[in-house]
Amino acid sequence: MLPVKVWTIRFLIAHTMATSSSADLSKAVKQQYMELPQGGTVQAMYIWIDGTGEGLRCKTRTLDAEPKTIEDLPEWNFDGSSTYQSEGSNSDMYLIPKAIFRDPFRKDPNKLILCEVLKYNRKPAETNLRQMCAKIMDKVENQHPWFGMEQEYTILGIDGHPFGWPSNGFPGPQGPYYCGVGADKAYGRDIVEAHYRACLYAGVDICGTNAEVMPAQWEFQVGPCEGIRMGDHLWMARFILHRVCEDFGVVVSFDPKPISGNWNGAGCHTNFSTKEMREEGGLKQIEEAIEKLSKRHQYHIRAYDPKGGLDNARRLTGRHETSNINEFSAGVANRGASIRIPRSVGQEKRGYFEDRRPSANCDPYAVTEALIRTCLLGEIGEEPEEYKQ
Ligand SMILES: *[C@@H]1O[C@H](CO)[C@@H](O)[C@H](O)[C@H]1NC(C)=O
Repeated sequence: MLPVKVWTIRFLIAHTMATSSSADLSKAVKQQYMELPQGGTVQAMYIWIDGTGEGLRCKTRTLDAEPKTIEDLPEWNFDGSSTYQSEGSNSDMYLIPKAIFRDPFRKDPNKLILCEVLKYNRKPAETNLRQMCAKIMDKVENQHPWFGMEQEYTILGIDGHPFGWPSNGFPGPQGPYYCGVGADKAYGRDIVEAHYRACLYAGVDICGTNAEVMPAQWEFQVGPCEGIRMGDHLWMARFILHRVCEDFGVVVSFDPKPISGNWNGAGCHTNFSTKEMREEGGLKQIEEAIEKLSKRHQYHIRAYDPKGGLDNARRLTGRHETSNINEFSAGVANRGASIRIPRSVGQEKRGYFEDRRPSANCDPYAVTEALIRTCLLGEIGEEPEEYKQ
């Protein structure tokens, strides 16, 4: 009887998954082709942020030689009407290469290229926040601003249900999962391990990973990165995660509150410091920066998720280790504050602080730019100042 039962279950599984998934294709057969020599050419995968400000797109071209610097890479274009990015008849958008990484999927000498998007008139597309961020970073270059970002995310099945959760219910309540080990506590570690190694190969400044409080929720950290490099490396780490998940037939969500109720949301806590803050007595500069931040809370909330605070409103409730979205607070070692000063920083009187407000789906260019504008350029008021090109 047993084989029949197994067959029946397989049949049911195969036929309730409506479509075939590329994750079901044989990776062993694919490997045979990936080992073919490529005759001195290089495959360059151009990657960009689409019109949602959250989604990533990519396409590949062949280069005759290995690019050594960004100048060796040609501009390219794409059809913006298919990426929520163009207005009317002017649908050609430009791809401007900005950062090169090694390709962990096709391997050396192939490349992943992070690009900015320009419109037909060569002005930045609405969701190209990198250009302004780079300009702001240039202004404070001599203060050597460092960032570290903790990217939380949730692994979902292709049906949108958290990976490994019972299909008609919930796992046991939160408690055993954070930094957990064991098949009943760590849901989807293969993805985390594959992503970590792929990032290291690519040259992404990834500095750690851990399992998070909600089962199937994980975190990776990128940093410390100086200036514009923070956004570049976080976006590339996200791309690599999407791509790894594709291979495994699962989906990554950066939604700040994927499951409502008594389950932790997902943020993107951002550590920030300047050279002065890191030097002896830097706590004074840290406190001054926090004082400035306290006067500009709403501006930051608007910059910290792609919907101007609406996404974060589901997460920043004042519960589940978050602050309330309507109130600014700061404290040493306080996880329920908007800004946390790590205990060691309080003791050594120098270092950095952590802004716990950014949402998991934030644009790191917007977050790092906002911190510089308020803390270093001394902007006040709810609107960012205009800076000329
Ligand atoms: C940010 O700071 C916290 C301590 O407050 C530390 O545990 C974490 O590793 C840092 N993350 C990054 C990415 O720098």
